[in-house]
Amino acid sequence: MKVAVIGAGLMGSGIAQTFAQAGYEVTNIDTFPASLEKAGANVARLFEKKVAKGKLTEEEKKKILGRLTYSGNMEDVKGAALIVEAVPENMELKKSVFATVDGLADPDSILVSNTSGLSISEIAAATKRPNKVMGAHFFYPAPVMKLLELIRGIATDDKTYETMKEIAKQIGKTTVDAPELPGFMVNRILVPMQNEAAFMVMEGCKPEDVDNAMKLGCNFPMGPLELTDFVGVDIMLGTMKGLYSGFSDSKYRPCPLLENMVKAGRLGKKSGQGFYRYDENGNKVG
Ligand code: CAA
Repeated sequence: MKVAVIGAGLMGSGIAQTFAQAGYEVTNIDTFPASLEKAGANVARLFEKKVAKGKLTEEEKKKILGRLTYSGNMEDVKGAALIVEAVPENMELKKSVFATVDGLADPDSILVSNTSGLSISEIAAATKRPNKVMGAHFFYPAPVMKLLELIRGIATDDKTYETMKEIAKQIGKTTVDAPELPGFMVNRILVPMQNEAAFMVMEGCKPEDVDNAMKLGCNFPMGPLELTDFVGVDIMLGTMKGLYSGFSDSKYRPCPLLENMVKAGRLGKKSGQGFYRYDENGNKVG
């Protein structure tokens, strides 16, 4: 079975890698050549590390990478039974991608969005096959995190949902049925906590104290601020804004410090600075 993943950013490239590791032929499509180049280089580096650690043989690595191709041409969605969209969280952009893909993809193909909280029904309405559209929300890093949130839009049919659930099993993910509401399930709980952690820094707490509190007090693998840097301050703020506007509830008010950090270009690990500083290899330096 062939899979196409649209978007070669942090999520898209990880999702493409996940499918390739599970034995699928995958084309990772992005209209920005620089994104494709970066995605290819990152995945190659990751697999080299796995070989060096003895977790994978050189032959296995070659096989997996051989199933993964990169393309700048949307026409390459043709022949894919499943198309996963993972472009930035912007409704107009997502609708335009879905309308284009709908016109090019095989009539039976399933189209899923990796949106972390936008309306699946609205995205589906941009296509002529809303019954074959649903949400499949991966978590970062996609090859590692075991969860896949499944979100049905108003028109999603049972066959599409059951097929996606079966595919999720084949790629080693456990699914939960999340409601079609802002933030779905995980982000509705997780992101307000990260937002609260940012408020505490704004009030004068040290980032390392806030993170240590949650790592040592709750056994979190990463503190909420480390996680914000890891996923991207802009991404986290975008999700918080989605909760605020989606529920029209002041309890989701985004922390002003996050707004200022994004304006200043402090986007986390990917920009070299967020709540912490990072070197060019993404290692924390302060
Ligand atoms: N991409 C792909 N694989 C990665 C990776 C990445 N960015 N980072 C780490 N990995 C892999 C490594 O290759 C390694 O694999 P092997 O065991 O096969 O070698 C494995 O993950 C473990 O990595 P490390 O030993 O280097 O590091 P670790 O044990 O400290 O684990 C972690 C790293 C898995 C990221 C862990 O710190 C963790 O679970 N953090 C929390 C992540 C989290 O909460 N994610 C959810 C984010 S919210 C979200 O995604 C919502 C959204 O809408 C954006």
